[in-house]
Amino acid sequence: MGFLRLVAPKALRAPSIFNGLPSGFPRNETVSIRAYSATMSPPSKAVVYEQHGSPDQVTRLINLPPVELKDNDVCVRMLAAPINPSDINRIEGVYPVRPPLPAIGGYEGVGEVHSLGSAVRGLSPGDWVIPSPPSFGTWQTYIVKEENAWHKISKDIPMEYAATVTVNPLTALRMLEDFTELKPGDCIVQNGATSMVGQCIIQLARIRGTHSINVIRDRAGSEEVKDRLKELGADEVYTESQLEMKNVKSLLGNLPEPALGFNCVGGNSASLVLKFLRQGGTMVTYGGMSKKPVTVSTSSFIFKDLSLRGFWLQKWMGSERAKDCRVMIDYLLDLVHKGKFKYEMELVPFDDFHVALDKALGKLGSHSKQVLRF
Ligand SMILES: NC(=O)c1ccc[n+]([C@@H]2O[C@H](COP(=O)([O-])OP(=O)(O)OC[C@H]3O[C@@H](n4cnc5c(N)ncnc54)[C@H](OP(=O)(O)O)[C@@H]3O)[C@@H](O)[C@H]2O)c1
Repeated sequence: MGFLRLVAPKALRAPSIFNGLPSGFPRNETVSIRAYSATMSPPSKAVVYEQHGSPDQVTRLINLPPVELKDNDVCVRMLAAPINPSDINRIEGVYPVRPPLPAIGGYEGVGEVHSLGSAVRGLSPGDWVIPSPPSFGTWQTYIVKEENAWHKISKDIPMEYAATVTVNPLTALRMLEDFTELKPGDCIVQNGATSMVGQCIIQLARIRGTHSINVIRDRAGSEEVKDRLKELGADEVYTESQLEMKNVKSLLGNLPEPALGFNCVGGNSASLVLKFLRQGGTMVTYGGMSKKPVTVSTSSFIFKDLSLRGFWLQKWMGSERAKDCRVMIDYLLDLVHKGKFKYEMELVPFDDFHVALDKALGKLGSHSKQVLRF
């Protein structure tokens, strides 16, 4: 077998290992690899950051050399991966759990099996797989991880749904199930209803016979946004300014007072969710897009006995209940396959990563979830 000498790119000359890459990642400037070996991955192109900061300033695309597949390893050619708010927070250094630096961006995605270690039995080249549970480093063209890190999924859905099924849809599913026992005909209220989680909540609530009241930001085109959310199954959609009134419950009409509320915005938007809740209701906070704190009136506790809870998927993933998470993923993907579950996304070529990033950062006026296509 011939040997090829490879000079690792400058960015790799750090002493630490890029997170998201398998063990065996080269540490030295000069590495030797076996040429033409079936057990080597192809070279990979990745979005890396070597320090925390503004994502548009600290991230860059670099080429990474091939890595060797061990017996149980699977090399996956990535097809698509989203840019989620938590990916941005990890790069900024403000997310509680972050990969060590330097790191490759991304946390979920979908890929196609490219090649296998000699002991892999459950996967074949061409299979579609997602990292399950999700894990760091999905913004790269080839990933090598052990077989058990991958979950084989059906190929009968668009790849962008497979790429995005874990972080947001699973959060929506768990939050609807895990806090209050909702009976058919009950109602929930949420802010951030245009978010991917919000769109999922609307549809999963509708499937289980639960009504939804939805709050969105005031923005250009809000009437069309309301129509789109109603097409997904939303019962009511209000902009925040529409709810600047003393008694928001006068808007309920025939809907019951919501027992459960979801907040991913904070500030005044969270207060609006609280105002809708019924006596003894619960608000679950799972995001803080406005970066403003949640403020609760004293009377909300004394006279309404409201409960405030929180949800974090990454913590849930470590719990006993997460043992069935792949079954839940398959359930959600089946809904997509049956045409019962959809959300807005924009596919962007990987080479245009920085355009997608600017859109995800809200710089270019886009409101769609950015999904990188490799
Ligand atoms: N706790 C968990 O385990 C967990 C899991 C998944 C997601 N999350 C969180 O859930 C939230 C939504 O995530 P996603 O991926 O579904 O979102 P997304 O699809 O990327 O959409 C972003 C949402 O945030 C809104 N938004 C952006 N900037 C805002 C601001 N300054 N003030 C108010 N609203 C703002 C957007 O409103 P417009 O449409 O008006 O732009 C949109 O509804 C994020 O905070 C994310 O971190 C948490």
